[in-house]
Amino acid sequence: MTSQETLVYIDGEFYPRSNAKISVFDHGVLYGDGVFEGIRCYNGVVFKLIEHLERLYASAKAIRLNIPLTIDELKDAVIKTLRVNGLRDAYIRLVVTRGVGDLGLDPRKCGRPTVFIIAERMDPILGSVAKERGVRVIISSIRRDSIASTSHEIKSLNYLNSILAKLEAINANSDDAIMLDANGFVSEATGANVFIVKNRALHTPPVTAAILPGITRRFVMELASSKGIKTYERDITPTELVLADEVFLTGTGAEIVPVVNVNGVSIGEGRPGEVTKTIMEEFDRRKVLPSEGTPID
Ligand SMILES: Cc1ncc(COP(=O)(O)O)c(C=O)c1O
Repeated sequence: MTSQETLVYIDGEFYPRSNAKISVFDHGVLYGDGVFEGIRCYNGVVFKLIEHLERLYASAKAIRLNIPLTIDELKDAVIKTLRVNGLRDAYIRLVVTRGVGDLGLDPRKCGRPTVFIIAERMDPILGSVAKERGVRVIISSIRRDSIASTSHEIKSLNYLNSILAKLEAINANSDDAIMLDANGFVSEATGANVFIVKNRALHTPPVTAAILPGITRRFVMELASSKGIKTYERDITPTELVLADEVFLTGTGAEIVPVVNVNGVSIGEGRPGEVTKTIMEEFDRRKVLPSEGTPID
């Protein structure tokens, strides 16, 4: 261990990164049985921390997992993790697993859920260059798990659906994949929501398209409204996606990323469009404001 090592919170204690371990009998590991949040802290303000915590508790409720901390205790644990690591700009991964059980999948065999929090510096997931130049995506042949299945409405540890689509994108030399829902409408990217721009209005798939109701997505709708740009939540066909004036992705990890090519077809002029740039500028301006989150000091 070196003193520069990140300290990771596990069940109330802090462990150096190299020694931050959980049991191989934890059902989070054995079955992906658990829930999580990815959160960002900008300039000492945890962006939309309460909204993330509320979504975590909602996901936990949907899988009947009782988080062994109150929302205030968990909020304090997140802030403490940033503080002990001296971080003011970071990506935070907050995970609650079913806990240690036996080799069967019965959740009743698991005692106490495991809670861990990792906070580290992290650039936008698709890279800073991607934000300037835009990314190329494919439409994946893998359908988003349906709302009657392990839908992303619940932010669970089960990401195999996204991983299969990401592998397909990598194999196609593409930056990411957009997935369709069980009915063939646009759902979301592997770890981000999708917006299209048509005639200066935003359109984004509804929750019924098996998306994760993204916190960045919601914020982007607010930003758009403040700029007089309308947003419609509605089903979007793959052809509408390809023929859109502009396309962009939103998510905590990715932030806002213009999409300039879908399945080999240029979107608009093949470079980030004006509406996308307006939203990105407004996002960068407002994401650091204390009023948009929870200050850590
Ligand atoms: C599958 C998926 N969709 C959408 C999002 C975007 O959600 P949020 O803006 O809350 O980060 C994420 C997470 O970042 C995700 O994993």
